[in-house]
Amino acid sequence: MINDKKVLFSGMQATGSLTLGNYLGALKNWLTLSDEYECFYSVVDMHSITVRQDPSVLRKRARALLTLYIAAGLDPKKNCIYYQSHVSGHAELSWILSCFTYMGELNRMTQFKDKAAKHADNINAGLFTYPVLMAADILLYQADVVPVGIDQMQHLELTRDIAIRFNNLYGDVFTVPEAYVGKVGAKIMSLQDPDKKMSKSDENPNGSIYLTDDPDTIVRKCRRAVTDSQACIAYRDEQPGIKNLINIYCACTDTTPEKAIKEMEGRGYGELKTAVAESVISILKPLQDEIARLEKDKTYLDGVIKENAQKANYYAMKTLRKVQRKVGFPDRIR
Ligand code: TRP
Repeated sequence: MINDKKVLFSGMQATGSLTLGNYLGALKNWLTLSDEYECFYSVVDMHSITVRQDPSVLRKRARALLTLYIAAGLDPKKNCIYYQSHVSGHAELSWILSCFTYMGELNRMTQFKDKAAKHADNINAGLFTYPVLMAADILLYQADVVPVGIDQMQHLELTRDIAIRFNNLYGDVFTVPEAYVGKVGAKIMSLQDPDKKMSKSDENPNGSIYLTDDPDTIVRKCRRAVTDSQACIAYRDEQPGIKNLINIYCACTDTTPEKAIKEMEGRGYGELKTAVAESVISILKPLQDEIARLEKDKTYLDGVIKENAQKANYYAMKTLRKVQRKVGFPDRIR
């Protein structure tokens, strides 16, 4: 608990261009949480180097992601928005936790297997121990809840196992985190392959709407979206392309599928696509304007980065010192 509130931790990687799916699926929901929880939102740049990065690109993208958090409406006075690499406690706790994690556990992680197959030329130890660093992220702040997508659930389960194991040995050190189950974000699928999630690593750029796409590009991508030959606007699994377009429309206009279907009654797919494109532009244009405004205000952003890193460090160190004592590291002489 911090300030009588439960603690929430989440993080995003600054790799690839962020998509509408990242925004509608995750970020937008974060906005509603800061009243109820003490929130830590990290730009997890240390996770990013498990695959090879161009340093200047990583630095730019990390800053762009942090800017996006704020532009999306997360108040950096209420939410701790910071770079993982600015808080050395993540690495220090990660080392300790790695001594309480079994090879067998890490070997079972499906994301490791996927990534190892994808980056066969660079299967480094960091890629393997990635879930331990993620556990450290979460446990360092004694997080009660973690909003994660289904693809990160296995990592969260491992985090819980590590926390419980540690607590059994040393007493109540860590809060055992739960997956955040609240209003779940819209699940946005690829425009080109509606059975697949819209992803920043999609090879086909027409499948994803990027947060930086201009209106013309958005219109073009929506027009090219894969649909079906049923010529009927309905919200059902047999029409995954149409269902996805309706989901995007609903998330952008804050409406329900039932209402959207009513609005679209008797119209063709072309009109639906136009309406979807307009709804996306109405969300992304103000976001892009706000990002541009913030980018110009270097002093403000740098101030946020500095203050929030200090805040994160403060809470991180509290946990880290406790853990170091528990495992038997000598006290520091002041
Ligand atoms: N591994 C997560 C992802 O790729 C990002 C992440 C790192 C994270 N540390 C976290 C998410 C802690 C939630 C909590 O999406």
